This record gives sequence, C-alpha cells and structure tokens, in this order.
Amino acid sequence: MDPLILKTATAVSQISFFSSFAEMKEELCRSLPENCRIVAIIDEKVDVFYGYLFPYEKITVVADERAKTMATVERITRRLMEMKAGRDTFLLGIGGGITTDICGFVASIYKRGVSFGFVPTTLLAMVDAAIGGKNGVNVDGYKNMLGTITQPQFVISCPAFLSSFQKSEICKSVPEVLKTRLIGGKSIEEVADFFGNTDSLKGLEDGRLLGFIREAAEVKCRVVASDERESGCRRILNLGHTFAHALERCSGNRLSHGEAVGIGLVLAAKNGGAGRMTESIAAVLKQLGLPSQIPENLEITELNRAVLQDKKNSGTHLNLVVIDEAGKISLKQKLVKDLIWG
Ligand code: GLY
Repeated sequence: MDPLILKTATAVSQISFFSSFAEMKEELCRSLPENCRIVAIIDEKVDVFYGYLFPYEKITVVADERAKTMATVERITRRLMEMKAGRDTFLLGIGGGITTDICGFVASIYKRGVSFGFVPTTLLAMVDAAIGGKNGVNVDGYKNMLGTITQPQFVISCPAFLSSFQKSEICKSVPEVLKTRLIGGKSIEEVADFFGNTDSLKGLEDGRLLGFIREAAEVKCRVVASDERESGCRRILNLGHTFAHALERCSGNRLSHGEAVGIGLVLAAKNGGAGRMTESIAAVLKQLGLPSQIPENLEITELNRAVLQDKKNSGTHLNLVVIDEAGKISLKQKLVKDLIWG
C-alpha cells in the first residue's frame, strides 16, 4: 500500500502501512537513521508481547492518561541522561497515543530536540494520535496543557498489533475514524458495519482494515499539511474534542478518549443543529457498543467549567467545531452557557 507523505513548512514525514510484522520490521530498518543511537520509548504492555520485534535500548512507560505528565517526562529525561544519550539519539515511540505523545514531547525538548519516529500499536494512534506532530502532557488532569508541534520522521502502521485486543477495545478507537470520515465526507455506516462485525476483525490482515486506516490518515495529513500550526482549517480536526476533553476530565478518565470523542461527535451534530446526523452518529455508536450520551452522574456546570479550561478556548465564547444541517463541518461561535450536553 502506497505511503503518505506529510509535507509541512518545517518537515517531511512518511506515513506507511503494512499488514505483517515482517514487512513492518523491514520498513523500520530502512527508516531508522544509521548514524544514530536508537532508544525505544515503549508502552510496558506492548514490550511484554512485542518487545522481541524491537531489539533496541528501551525505556518503558505506563500507558495511562494519568501518567501523561511532566513527572514521566522528567523520569525519561533522567534515564536518557544516565544512559548518556546525546543529541545523536533517535527516539522511537512504540505504543498507543499516550506513549507516542510522551515520546514526541520528550524528543522535541531533550537537549533542545532529537529526531524521532513512531510505530503506533493501537487503532486510535494509527489513525490519529501518531500523525500530525502535536505532542504533549496533561497538567492537573487538563489535557495536553504542555506540548509542542514537531513532526516525527516516520509513522509505520501495522494492524497486526490489533490482534491482541478484544473487539470491544478496538471499537473504542473507532470514533476517531468516524471523525475523519465525517470531515472527509465519507460514509460512517460502512465503518460501523466493518468494526461492529466480529468476523471482519478476525481477518486483521484484511485489506479493508488497512484501507480504513490509510483513508483516515490521508484526511489528517491533508488538513495538517495545509495548517500545521492550527491557525485556521486544522481546527476542524477538533471535531467532537471540546466535548470529549471535558467528558474525560469530569469522568475521571472512566470514559476513554475514543468513547468521549464518540459522544463528542453526537454533541457536535446536536450543537450544530444537525438532527438527522445526530441520530445517524448515535446509531453507529450503538452498533459499535459505545455510549452516545453523557453519563448521568456528570454535572453540566462541571462540564462547562472544564470546557473553559480547555486550551483551545479563551473567554466565555467558544469557536466550536460543529456539524451543520447539511452535514458540513464548520466553526460556530457559542457561549459556554449555551452548550447543549444532552
Ligand atoms: N499528534 C496528534 C496530532 O498532531 O493531531
């Protein structure tokens, strides 16, 4: 499958897609710089199952949103210093979005920046988190308060990693796929039929899965290439995320990022006045076994307060990304007190 090339003002990244570990490893060997010391920043669970695929020096991380903090960044930094890792170090992030975010952030600031690349191992990271250069850590539970935008040299996606996940876990990442399909004007029902069907997930080498991953990555690359610093059109990639970040925080991360994005997509349609689309997204989430409404125990005042803390918002007016009646994604100014949560 052809790779994607993400070209921005400052970098060129290659995003490639392989169905087998053997091909993924070959590509990794081709992509890693020969004159660098390779240090893998790897999710500790991924290391247990797949560490044998990555014979490099390693620093493990706990892939928990609560561990995506400066304390973890400092721990990794100290470890790199103990290892005497110089500016010729290349950091290889292996894991889901939490791991690739932490790795990208450390790489962007360690000794004022070293090169890095990613092997995402979750669907969410393959279609979204590993692509686009944004990286960062949370502060006091508020998402990605500290971070940079620095592109990885490469992202190598291989859905063979997904075979160790239960179907229900894979489905939790699908809302990020739905998001890019809504932005790209593609059918969301097709995706729900595929991921909602246990049989299709048995054949993970199936070209359709790789096709969905590449299509989502392509939409993301197109948007990021035209607005890397998010001064304009890149904001559409936040579709559903203003709601999602507040839901994650207020639920104490009981809702996963993907689940929160799913509910956020429904709310983006509702707040945009897109009645039919609200129903379609909710139906697709149901088919995937995912929630489509905010949990009952969450307080609207708390959610509104969390929205105001979101780094993308300032003042009481939001530039909310919504889905309008025609199914178009657009920005709408809204007062926080006027947000519809249910
Ligand atoms: N790394 C995720 C993004 O740039 O959107």
